[in-house]
Amino acid sequence: GLVNTKEMFAKAIKGGYAIPAFNFNNMEQLQAIIQAAVETKSPVILQVSKGARQYANQTLLRYMAEGAVEYAKELGCAHPQIVLHLDHGDSFELCKSCVDMGFSSVMIDGSHLPYDENVALTKKVVEYAHQFDVTVEGELGVLAGVEDEVSAEEHTYTKPEEVVDFVTKTGVDSLAISIGTSHGANKFKPEQCTRDANGRLVPPPLRFDVLEGVEKELPGFPIVLHGSSSVPQEEVETINKYGGALKDAIGIPEEELRKAAKSAVCKINIDSDSRLAMTAAIREVFATKPAEFDPRKYLGPARENMKKLYKHKIENVLGSNNKI
Ligand code: G3H
Ligand code: 13P
Ligand code: NA
Ligand code: ZN
Repeated sequence: GLVNTKEMFAKAIKGGYAIPAFNFNNMEQLQAIIQAAVETKSPVILQVSKGARQYANQTLLRYMAEGAVEYAKELGCAHPQIVLHLDHGDSFELCKSCVDMGFSSVMIDGSHLPYDENVALTKKVVEYAHQFDVTVEGELGVLAGVEDEVSAEEHTYTKPEEVVDFVTKTGVDSLAISIGTSHGANKFKPEQCTRDANGRLVPPPLRFDVLEGVEKELPGFPIVLHGSSSVPQEEVETINKYGGALKDAIGIPEEELRKAAKSAVCKINIDSDSRLAMTAAIREVFATKPAEFDPRKYLGPARENMKKLYKHKIENVLGSNNKI
């Protein structure tokens, strides 16, 4: 069945790679994730956000994830390593409901709360979840942009001097930190960037000094990076070529994620890139084959394009291939 994150994180830290955490809301995304994970022999975390749960229904998502384990076996993986994880849980009740409904891991995101309230809420979730062997991710530091329907103009980087106290008091199994990533397809404003010789935007570097500070305080403890889409420019160009209107879309350079994956960062969250891959493929079919109206004829290419993206992340960025 589904597994929690414990063993997979311990192995990832030792092995110097990161587990992909891909969000899913629908069948085609799930199929693409599982096919990619099986073909690359990678463990994988399936993430469900509060919005995904509202969109697709928690019961349906749960059985889809459980079905994904059987699907992976059918595709030839004898012992699939698949986690069903709540992404950005914002209350004890939501986390409890997911634990009760068979999720193997949950995130309680109290990062926007005052420190003591974050500690108290996170601890409460941990105490509940651990009774059922469900692992818990907490967060310290605030990512710029919209997170949990709370929007922050500026990053509040994680304070390395707080992490030991937080982890000790709460008992969390992993910690999401803020080092300059953010959610969505517009991670940096053009005025925060420089330009390369071809005039393309170059984002400011992530704060690896903050990550190193955290690692020094918590040696060997599993660290998580949210907001880690790279926003592939070829997908953005395809979207815009076929009628889209994405402006100044920019993500985290893959080179920085490769470097992070070699550190104590053992979970890297990617959602926007999958959305871009899906949208690009669908727009292309709609524009080039306007008479087509069988959903399989555009969701099929969308699924293929997402699968290609997931395999690329696993093999060329996170390094989680050939780990099962
Ligand atoms: O962190 C946010 C994830 O990308 C999920 O996004 O809340 O729109 O489903 P969502
Ligand atoms: P992206 O928007 O960069 O894909 O981040 C996703 C994420 O952090 C989900 O929790
Ligand atoms: Na790592
Ligand atoms: Zn996130």
